[in-house]
Amino acid sequence: MKSRHRDLVLITGVHGFLGQHVLRTFLDETHCDLIVTSRNEKLQFTDVADEPRLLAYHKLDVTDRASVKDTIGLFKPDVIVNCAAMVNVDLAEHERELAWKTNVKSVEHIIEAARKTDGRVVHVSSDYIFDGSKTPYAENASPSPLNYYGRTKLASENALRSSGVNYCIIRAAFFYGIEVQKKPSFAFNVIKNLINDETFEAFDDLFAPPTLIDDVALGVVRATEYNKNGIYHIAGPEMISRYEFAKRIATTLRLNPELIIPIPFSVTDTRAERPRHSSFITLKAQTELGLRITGIDEGLHVMVRGIHDMEDARQIVYQ
Ligand SMILES: NC(=O)c1ccc[n+]([C@@H]2O[C@H](COP(=O)([O-])OP(=O)(O)OC[C@H]3O[C@@H](n4cnc5c(N)ncnc54)[C@H](OP(=O)(O)O)[C@@H]3O)[C@@H](O)[C@H]2O)c1
Repeated sequence: MKSRHRDLVLITGVHGFLGQHVLRTFLDETHCDLIVTSRNEKLQFTDVADEPRLLAYHKLDVTDRASVKDTIGLFKPDVIVNCAAMVNVDLAEHERELAWKTNVKSVEHIIEAARKTDGRVVHVSSDYIFDGSKTPYAENASPSPLNYYGRTKLASENALRSSGVNYCIIRAAFFYGIEVQKKPSFAFNVIKNLINDETFEAFDDLFAPPTLIDDVALGVVRATEYNKNGIYHIAGPEMISRYEFAKRIATTLRLNPELIIPIPFSVTDTRAERPRHSSFITLKAQTELGLRITGIDEGLHVMVRGIHDMEDARQIVYQ
């Protein structure tokens, strides 16, 4: 009997918010074999370490051209799923060289290596390539980033589009969900403050679609599995302010919504400019990737169940 060929997928940035979900979704939803990489010495997730389809963990800094070439050359993955990035929008505005290296040069290194091994690249981009003036955006809308982070994400897309390698770009927006890691997201910060009876300030004039990270991970995995090329938009169905989202989190978790204080983004002068309104048309991802986009209330309940499981496993510390 012929042995069945299983795709070999290499994931970068596996310890990140999305990377960790992409890893688990590949394990749960596919038969792919996996190589996972990040800047850490070791894989931090002990619960999946013995998974037989997780063939190797490899330390990889994506800004290091030689390491990217050697790692991809060594494993020759069918697909490279790039979840590594510098996502701190305000830091990227000031640390431009680092942001360019991390978000653009790294993609060029991946492209160069993938070309040699005939690998496909599945890459993640952002709603911040748009300025928010013509929301909701379809995949073919014209980009016009307002900040440097958005410029780097757009440049990473352009590198892929002109590369000649097979690529798929998943553009996503404003993640929330469970994370087993050190850099808490917006939703986690809301929960942490409210649990500790502290106030939480949230912008009431910055509107975005909170997006359950599980949906983005599933989109990335399906785009890989279904061999999709081109661009897909994945975002939550409702565009609401950060303030409104924080209130919805409080209500769902039965925490005190009075602790949430609305503040205008317009008064901040230390922050990078952002689109005031952002949302996506997600029809393509729904029809071609079979995604069912999760609404905020359902998504928050998914998150709450995950928090309880993780509290049981003592993986969450709120202070
Ligand atoms: N978060 C959002 O709301 C959002 C919205 C739209 C799109 N996106 C996109 O989604 C993707 C994933 O974002 P995320 O939220 O998962 O970010 P994240 O949690 O910060 O994860 C990014 C990961 O990349 C790693 N990384 C940074 N520089 C690296 C390097 N030189 N070599 C190897 N790894 C490196 C980071 O490692 P360290 O832990 O060592 O720093 C981190 O684990 C990004 O492309 C981002 O642009 C995010």
